Amino acid sequence: ATAPIEGFLTRGPVLPVLVVPDAEAAVPLARALATGGLEVLEITLRTEAALEAIRRIQGELPGVAVGAGTVLNRRQMKQAMKAGAAFAVSPGTSEELLDASGELGLPLLPGVATASEAMALLERGLRFAKFFPAGPAGGPAYLKSLADPLPELRFCPTGGIDAVTAVDYLRLPNVVCVGGSWVAPKSLVAEGSWDAITRLARDAAGLRRS
Ligand code: 3PG
Repeated sequence: ATAPIEGFLTRGPVLPVLVVPDAEAAVPLARALATGGLEVLEITLRTEAALEAIRRIQGELPGVAVGAGTVLNRRQMKQAMKAGAAFAVSPGTSEELLDASGELGLPLLPGVATASEAMALLERGLRFAKFFPAGPAGGPAYLKSLADPLPELRFCPTGGIDAVTAVDYLRLPNVVCVGGSWVAPKSLVAEGSWDAITRLARDAAGLRRS
């Protein structure tokens, strides 16, 4: 259950975290991001429209890999999978979610914020985690400190990251990509400013691990 998530995380340096207010916005938003070079997306299950957004994107944009975010339990994981999600992301980790991921065969990026939580994932054979909430939990300095004792784990830090701080995370040896909503700000999504979102995506896609 560890390898499949890797393919999604290594495709772009930035994983857009999307809060879709209405299903009509889903396809143009996803297309705007993909045009800018970000083809792996996370739709958070925080709005009524989220599952329909996943359904439409995976139906209409075959080149885009869409995952479900803010997946908190088995029921939501099943719903996301049924809607066509290619993977699931969670702010935290639970036995229920880890079991469900294995049983359903849906790759999971579980969240951790401490060494103990990270070790629990290693015990389960996982090698990739979301570091959440990255900024408030301690930022790049904190995550860097986990690299030496836990060299087998690689992280997608998310939470409070922007185009500037993304660079500091992408320098770390234990960072595979960074997640964030800055590439699709609520106001631009509400206005349907798709070209502006494409520009933000292009800048984000140009960030490199160094
Ligand atoms: C998440 O769900 O991963 C976070 O809310 C995204 O964090 P950000 O909005 O601070 O980028």
